[in-house]
Amino acid sequence: MKAILISDYASDPSTLSPTTLPLPSPKPDEYLIRVTHCSPQHADILHAQGKHQNNNPKRGWCFPPFILGYDYAGIIHTLPEHGSHRGLRKGDRVFGAAIGAFAEYTCVPARAIRKVPDELSNETACAMSGQAVSYAAVVNVAHVKAGETVMVSGASGGLGSVCCMVAKALGAKVVALVGDGDKAKHMRQAMDVDLVVVQKGDWMKSVLEFTHGQGVDVMLDNTGMVNDAIRCLAYFGRIVILGFAARKGVMEDVKMNKLLLKSITVTGYRFGESGRRYPDDLQRIWDGYLDMMKSGRIQPLLFGNYSSLADVGRALKDLTERKVYGKIVVRVADELESVKL
Ligand SMILES: NC(=O)c1ccc[n+]([C@@H]2O[C@H](COP(=O)([O-])OP(=O)(O)OC[C@H]3O[C@@H](n4cnc5c(N)ncnc54)[C@H](OP(=O)(O)O)[C@@H]3O)[C@@H](O)[C@H]2O)c1
Repeated sequence: MKAILISDYASDPSTLSPTTLPLPSPKPDEYLIRVTHCSPQHADILHAQGKHQNNNPKRGWCFPPFILGYDYAGIIHTLPEHGSHRGLRKGDRVFGAAIGAFAEYTCVPARAIRKVPDELSNETACAMSGQAVSYAAVVNVAHVKAGETVMVSGASGGLGSVCCMVAKALGAKVVALVGDGDKAKHMRQAMDVDLVVVQKGDWMKSVLEFTHGQGVDVMLDNTGMVNDAIRCLAYFGRIVILGFAARKGVMEDVKMNKLLLKSITVTGYRFGESGRRYPDDLQRIWDGYLDMMKSGRIQPLLFGNYSSLADVGRALKDLTERKVYGKIVVRVADELESVKL
């Protein structure tokens, strides 16, 4: 099969290209998946470079040689020898996230596999597989209500774009923060949000004008900008911290009195760990998220055209250069999907 192999960490992941490898052998509790789509993201760049926490020599588990990639959609090729098949059958369309996704075949454990609902394509499922965190942050953590104003940082990103969609689907007004004017132009055309603000100069003025001086009710922070969020927040405002994409590993200092003065609540949310600790809640989150997708209330914002594993390097380059808005999905074997649809 073809796959993107990391035999040594790659300082420039845009140079990566597929090589030919033997078909992987699933462990007794793993599914073998024929991959139809994969979705490169920033974590893949870090994994390729050896900079992800999973590559940490003391605490990590992901070391060369390994096949790169995380988010996938595909078709079950073989079922596990051991354990329950959870109603899944050979030939079912499935999606999830497990290391090794940039390949024609990948082995995944039961916890990393979900059935693609009949209403959705593999491409959609792949694009949305990493963003249940956004749904949970908006619905279960921030408890966004219709009529509230929600500001989203990193709104062009994977998490941010779905935060915007879910908040809009709930009837909130959405302010999307983006890094540059070009992206802002595309976002205004492609996304149903109420205000797109480029984070340059006196950008907070536009947010305060939009809210008639009141400030936003909720901030979903994907980039690490709590101090700026406090300035844009209404009294009794809520901040949910999801990520630090813009902080280059350096965290903010926040003056606690600023939280008190506006009665602000700040909540951190770590999706993976929450799901491991509270699997029933995780299932409810997935049910709600998939329902929104199945009813068409949220749809992926797809970026560019990436039609084979040979395009993974270009995808990683576009991500590094911050050209991407929404999600990249690479087609690996779409003809197999179309047979099933
Ligand atoms: N809490 C959780 O459980 C959880 C789960 C998954 C991911 N995360 C974290 O959430 C954050 C967002 O993830 P994502 O998948 O949405 O990432 P993403 O697709 O790369 O989007 C991040 C966005 O942040 C903006 N940004 C601002 N400064 C940046 C910089 N210096 N480098 C790169 N992007 C920058 C970019 O938009 P502009 O260029 O328009 O500014 C970009 O679109 C990441 O920090 C990720 O690690 C958290």
